[in-house]
Formats: sequence, C-alpha cells, structure tokens
Amino acid sequence: MQFTLALVAAIFASAISAAPALQARDTYPTVKISLYNDQSGRMATVEVVSDGHANMLTDLFKGTPVDDNGAIKATSAQLVKSTQKTRCFFQNYNDIINMSGADHPFVDLDGNPAVAIVRDMSGFNLQCSERAGA
Ligand SMILES: *[C@@H]1O[C@H](CO)[C@@H](O)[C@H](O)[C@H]1NC(C)=O
Repeated sequence: MQFTLALVAAIFASAISAAPALQARDTYPTVKISLYNDQSGRMATVEVVSDGHANMLTDLFKGTPVDDNGAIKATSAQLVKSTQKTRCFFQNYNDIINMSGADHPFVDLDGNPAVAIVRDMSGFNLQCSERAGA
C-alpha cells in the first residue's frame, strides 16, 4: 500500500512538473497595468506578460511620469487590460497587494481609500499569472 501511494505521488509530481511545458511561452497573455499618483496628477501604463515572473517596478516604470528621480510613486493601481483569469500582485518581501482581473482590478496603494497618500513603490515587484481552471 505504501509503495502504491509513493508511486501515485511520483506520477502526480511528474504530471505537475510537466504541465508548464504544455503551454508555450508565447501563449501567455499580455496585461496592462496603470499606476496613478492622485497628488501629482500623473499616471503611467505599462505592459507585462502574465507568465508569473517578477518585474521590478523600478524597471517597469523607469522614465514614465510616475518615476520621480528613480522612485516609483503612486496612490493607486489598476489592471486596465487583463483576462477574467488574471491574478496580479505587488510584492515587497511580506508586503503583498493583490489584484484580480475578474473582481478586483483596482487597488488603493496607501490602504486608505479616503485619502490619496503617495506611496513609494520602488521596493515592489509585480507578478501576474493566469489562474488555472475557471
Ligand atoms: C493574496 O492572494 C493570495 C492567494 O491568491 C492569498 O493567499 C493572500 O492571502 C492574499 N493576500 C492579501 C493581502 O489579500
């Protein structure tokens, strides 16, 4: 019985590790995300491939209107082009800000919807992926 369970586990493990290879890299959709700075009135939109890779915001938004001498400053973010399966999050160590194309495309970055407080997002990366299934 233990042998059987180990075998089943091994088959599952190989099926899981093989799965990503079935989806060619160029089939990942491109999503668009905007950062808004409601204090300066500036905003910028960038494209990222929804492939689960981390993109540093300092690279993504370099030279855009929300780049303040190398610091990426914003009050909110919005997925402006995504699919119903798109999940994105900003991550800076344990600080995670989730977004979802289906039901949560807009996030207030300062955590206070009543006030537009500018947040320095320079330490964050952005990761987007397409949720499997529905
Ligand atoms: C973000 O989403 C992940 C998984 O989708 C969840 O585990 C986590 O609790 C969420 N974090 C926040 C801050 O909502």
